[in-house]
Amino acid sequence: MTINANWIAPATPMGDVCPRFVRSFEIEKAVSSATLTVTVMGVYEASLNGERIGDYVLAPGWTAYHRRHQFQTYDVTAQLIPGKNRLAVLVGKGWYRGPWGSIDKTLPAGLIACLEISYADGTVQTIPSDESWKVTESQIRFSELYNGETADGSFVPTEELPVMLLDRTQENLIPQQGEKITEQNRVHAKRIFTTPAGETVVDFGQEVTGYVQFTVTGQAGDAVEISHAEVLDKNGNFYTENYRSAKAKLRYTCRDGVQTYKPHLTFFGFRYIRLDSFPGTPKAQDFVAIAVSSDMRRTGRVRSGNRTLNRFYENVIWGQRSNFLDVPTDCPQRDERLGWTGDAQVFAKTAAYNFNVKKFFRKWLSDLAAEQFPSGLVPNFIPAIGEKYTSAAWGDAAVIVPWQMYLSYGDKADLAAQFESMKAWVGYIGSATKDEFLWTGCGHFGDWLGLDAPAGSYKGSSREDFIASAFYANAADILARTCEVLGVDGSEYRTLHQNIVNKFRLTFPTYLTQTENVVALTFGLTPDPASTAADLAELVRKAGPSLRTGFVGTPYLLYALGENGYADLAYELLCKEDYPSWLFQVNRGATTVWEHWDGMNEAGDFWSPDMNSFNHYAYGSVIGWVCEFAAGISPAIPGYAEVNLAPHPDSRLGWLEVSLETEGGEIFSGWYYEQGGLRYEIRTPVPANLTLNGRTVRLAPGSYLFFGE
Ligand code: BGC
Repeated sequence: MTINANWIAPATPMGDVCPRFVRSFEIEKAVSSATLTVTVMGVYEASLNGERIGDYVLAPGWTAYHRRHQFQTYDVTAQLIPGKNRLAVLVGKGWYRGPWGSIDKTLPAGLIACLEISYADGTVQTIPSDESWKVTESQIRFSELYNGETADGSFVPTEELPVMLLDRTQENLIPQQGEKITEQNRVHAKRIFTTPAGETVVDFGQEVTGYVQFTVTGQAGDAVEISHAEVLDKNGNFYTENYRSAKAKLRYTCRDGVQTYKPHLTFFGFRYIRLDSFPGTPKAQDFVAIAVSSDMRRTGRVRSGNRTLNRFYENVIWGQRSNFLDVPTDCPQRDERLGWTGDAQVFAKTAAYNFNVKKFFRKWLSDLAAEQFPSGLVPNFIPAIGEKYTSAAWGDAAVIVPWQMYLSYGDKADLAAQFESMKAWVGYIGSATKDEFLWTGCGHFGDWLGLDAPAGSYKGSSREDFIASAFYANAADILARTCEVLGVDGSEYRTLHQNIVNKFRLTFPTYLTQTENVVALTFGLTPDPASTAADLAELVRKAGPSLRTGFVGTPYLLYALGENGYADLAYELLCKEDYPSWLFQVNRGATTVWEHWDGMNEAGDFWSPDMNSFNHYAYGSVIGWVCEFAAGISPAIPGYAEVNLAPHPDSRLGWLEVSLETEGGEIFSGWYYEQGGLRYEIRTPVPANLTLNGRTVRLAPGSYLFFGE
């Protein structure tokens, strides 16, 4: 699509200073409606007559810009005033011109916009970006996503400088496709204290992605300087090493008087801030953490009789909020924050049990398809920003995520939109492998961060060719099913799948690790599920009982146990509180989900700072199991036109309640251990197949109570 306007940029470069594009105009007649269409090379905040336009934070979001650059359209009718009006757009580097995202580091802060005003007399006036616009320096002297923001509250721009036209294509422009990012939560500071190192630190009690708003009484020239951190070290001191090169600093120069400030064009991942400089005596009530996130509707709720699990669930919700920032990012704090495909794939199902992520993933998958190589290779992260490599279980996001979205939301059009991309991915594996019907001879991330990793390695000890070939089988199977749904001939993929299974069985007759057993069970590769499940249970018991799995094995581990006769052991792992477990981190004070099982060990020591995020949602994928297996809610028809309800209670939780808002209404499954037995509570707005103790009954929409032993 095109905008009837020109790309413009400051005629004289402003260095690090964020430019504010301005355009003044007169309104002389009655207005019936007005819309502003705008996007920038960076991120922007637009305002009309000093009042913010819309509530989109970090617009235009992050896409594969060279192919798909979103623009936004705002209804600004109510913001116009008779007489003189002034439109302003403040532009920061954002993803487009940041250290990772930049297509070309020398690019200027470009803007393209068109204000269209319809008058009551039927005439229309357009104000496109062109050489009649001006640009001023703004109070924001520096802004970038990893290093933070520097603002000068005392700076008053005077000079309006010329702009120049930029010769740039409009072919990549598309209307906003994803959810906008907005301010979602305000978390008030819980306490302010002095650390043993003598530093003044504010604790918000919750890790968020966003920024701090502070109120300060200062004199012109007074400096506020704030650092961000996720955790305190074992001595109670502020710890920033795990941010690596991301400086994550907020600097503000005061004007005279009381003033309130928050950053405009950046974000941080943090729970604590350190006041490196702050005039006067800071008080906790002067600080609010504003959490930003893609504006997804919350659709799921989980509550149980286990308080630690309940806190873990809250951590998963916060982890999703803080990493679904237009792109599903691995983490929000260090010098990374990329749309890692593996992490997204691992968490997609859980994500859909928590929030409505249909639109969010539709947009990201469009970027994935746009970034795919002609060979079908799916770069490890999306947007790819030049990444040329792929890995099994990472690139597989190309098939796993669209299929999951289809199961969760039932939209065939979304699946059809990804069909070519899905086929290309499976085709790519076929062309990259050394051995037909397997995926061998390529490098992968393996069972990333598995606890059975050899010393010095991030990769668990499961064989890479094993994992890659197993995911190849899964991808072919998903593609065959997709063909069926879309009504096209899928026999080629059905046959491919069978060939992979056959060859896999010959090549990998034994399974060496927890993850290998898990994967063989999950993808239907073992010829003898009962003995594989017994082997898995044995490995788990021998280890503790404990898990040893990483990114690949963990999301499926409790399914592999639960669905093959070892629900008891699955619950034991779920409820386990000592290291390694999901709940260990809760007892160590986690408020989001850790990247490593031992991000902080029992002694309070950290995993090395080179890769230690305390806000990585991947292991939160166990909540999918709580919803689907423990509470038993899964779609019988994609999109929940019919639901399967097969709760698997366990007395160690005491009780469990899961609700899920679907298109047809809210589905609820609860079970409660009470004196004398078990009570099940079911509410379904759609026909349901209820399975209890191995017996399935058909339920019409309604509310039900059942009692069991
Ligand atoms: C990221 C992970 C990602 C991985 C790939 C890391 O740096 O944070 O979550 O999946 O690289 O192995």
